[in-house]
Amino acid sequence: MSNNNTKHPSSENKPWGGRFTESTDAFVEEFTASVTFDQRMYAQDIQGSQAHARMLAKIDVLTDDECHSIVTALDEIKQEIEQGEFAWRVDLEDVHMNIESRLVAKIGEPGKKLHTGRSRNDQVATDIRLYLREQIGFIDAELQRMQCAILGIAEKYADTLMPGFTHLQVAQVITVGHHMMAWFEMLARDRGRLADCRKRVNIMPLGSAALAGTPFPLDREYVADQLGFDAISHNSLDAVSDRDFAIEFCSFASVLIMHLSRMSEELVLWASQQFEFIELPDRFCTGSSIMPQKKNPDVPELVRGKSGRVFGNLMSLLTLMKSQVLAYNKDNQEDKEPLFDTIDNILGSVRVYADMIPHIVFNEDNLARAVNKGYATATDLADYLVARGVAFRDAHEIVGRAVRLAIDEGKELPQLSLQQYQSISSNIGEDVYSVLQTRGSAESKQVTVGTSPSQVRMQIKAARNKINA
Ligand code: ARG
Repeated sequence: MSNNNTKHPSSENKPWGGRFTESTDAFVEEFTASVTFDQRMYAQDIQGSQAHARMLAKIDVLTDDECHSIVTALDEIKQEIEQGEFAWRVDLEDVHMNIESRLVAKIGEPGKKLHTGRSRNDQVATDIRLYLREQIGFIDAELQRMQCAILGIAEKYADTLMPGFTHLQVAQVITVGHHMMAWFEMLARDRGRLADCRKRVNIMPLGSAALAGTPFPLDREYVADQLGFDAISHNSLDAVSDRDFAIEFCSFASVLIMHLSRMSEELVLWASQQFEFIELPDRFCTGSSIMPQKKNPDVPELVRGKSGRVFGNLMSLLTLMKSQVLAYNKDNQEDKEPLFDTIDNILGSVRVYADMIPHIVFNEDNLARAVNKGYATATDLADYLVARGVAFRDAHEIVGRAVRLAIDEGKELPQLSLQQYQSISSNIGEDVYSVLQTRGSAESKQVTVGTSPSQVRMQIKAARNKINA
């Protein structure tokens, strides 16, 4: 029997106040609350509750009238939230209890029946999955937009030559189109990982209740169907406790932001005065408060910088999970901020790149100058010798000597005379000069993964068909 004299107002407010004789410490209330950050799942919480209520009516736990008043009142609560009229209360801990207590305040008795056969443990697991599923859709759409932007610029600069680097030293001639398509490929794999992750996100935990399941004959398939889940979970202990799907999303996000960070690094280098390969649009850059000449590539720098927090969030979630015994522990409330932070920063980064990429201008004159410096066609010369019967290792040695000679004379390879070449190898003839030209070098890479403009154009076409399919 509860004794009203020993109950404090604060514990009376709580849906779980019954067994408590003391009100919650004011700071503990604040410390344990999640409503400041989990309220962003309000739509999913309401959607889940409405599906649960309809199912309770289907199995006769609620009357049709009770179900109707719950569903209608939840729609109204959603409106109150969206119009900024909803008073979120920290003493009600989280989004779930805030909405439920508003429901009870609005409709009384039927509202109190909604939580039948359910716990906040399976409720929160469901909400996160629904929320993440929606965000995955947004992220994938932005990734597709970014891929389209890359295809546009790859096509525009399909014929533009640039130096390809290894060790950031000039290596061979490539095309800008080819370089852009490398970015495209990275994103294609990221989208594959995201699609794969979505399969494991889109599983419904409801029916698990707190941890053991529930005696009510819930029609889980009916709820899953209403909520668009692909399948239902098989083990209640697992379903309420594991956050591996969020970890998997953060792994996808880490690989993606690693890719974006590599792209950023290239853009920052290319925009520098040392390279001058590209001009970034002014509206994506900022200036300096002291140095009037500055135009800083803030967007790529910031995206590169965000990789730190995205990797960190993955570590947070892994560490959060690693020592948890079955089933739900309050630790899991800590899953949301790293997950939400990851979603927000990934969405922002991909969005800003999708917006910016079409406006990057490549400086074709500087690229041509750069590709003609640094002996980018040396390997082509070795391949030329191989075609004349010289073994590759010997050809490598011969070309090494030619490069040495060019360095000593302060020349590029096409500037050495035929006589000089023939003094190094009698296999070199007049036709060598076409091989030493950068354009011919790029065009010769006709292999299906290669840099020749015609190949790259075919890759762009195939890619376009694939992403629009
Ligand atoms: N706010 C909690 C969370 O985010 C909801 C689940 C709470 N369950 C519990 N038994 N205290 O995880």
